[in-house]
Amino acid sequence: MKKGNFVIAIDGFSSCGKSTVAKALAKQLNFVFVDSGAMYRAVTLYFQRHQISLTDDAAIAQAIQDIHIDLVPQADKIQVLLNGEDISDAIRTMEVSEYVSEVSAIKAVRKAMVKQQQALGAKRNIVMDGRDIGTTVFPHADLKIFMTASPQVRAERRFAELTAKGEQLTMEEVKDNLAHRDHIDSTREESPLRQAEDAIVLDNSELNQEEQLAFVVDLVKSRMEKV
Ligand code: DC
Repeated sequence: MKKGNFVIAIDGFSSCGKSTVAKALAKQLNFVFVDSGAMYRAVTLYFQRHQISLTDDAAIAQAIQDIHIDLVPQADKIQVLLNGEDISDAIRTMEVSEYVSEVSAIKAVRKAMVKQQQALGAKRNIVMDGRDIGTTVFPHADLKIFMTASPQVRAERRFAELTAKGEQLTMEEVKDNLAHRDHIDSTREESPLRQAEDAIVLDNSELNQEEQLAFVVDLVKSRMEKV
């Protein structure tokens, strides 16, 4: 068993079920779970509320100084605090989803978030999900998973999630948003979403949650034995 902390990086496109697996895995292993997408969503909410223009470098730099994000583990979820305010639900709206890829493509925003994410994983056993965790945030992670699912399955999951919360929207709007975010996330200049060379692919289109968890737990066990 290796000394020091064990880092699990889970990356993939939007609505592949990364957070669900990451959260369940962290619970089972007693690791800390960090939803890095929630951090970019928190920044986006702040930008929207303060009408920060995405081309105003000075306002962006100031905003980054003024933003303080906390991720507080709770029994069944992670509470997201923006300067002390609970914004866990506010960051999950379509309004934020429509803007988050643009905000997270900004170099200064990524630099600040990556720094915080690296600090969070410096000394603890951690499961972090996102787009660039295995490539940029923790290129030496002990285990890297790249999750995929068919576009139809992803859209159905996202649609169910949003309508359950009472959002009024069509399946087409959800599909368009996912395609839009995939495009920006994977073509941006700064740490674009891509599969790390040493990542293991998990296509969960046909797998239920227990099957996905069992797949990853087996991988963790074999890695822990090796190191
Ligand atoms: O995981 P999510 O869908 O909540 O993430 C929201 C957005 O944040 C996503 O469209 C891209 C961005 N993101 C990112 O650029 N890098 C990460 N590590 C995590 C999320």
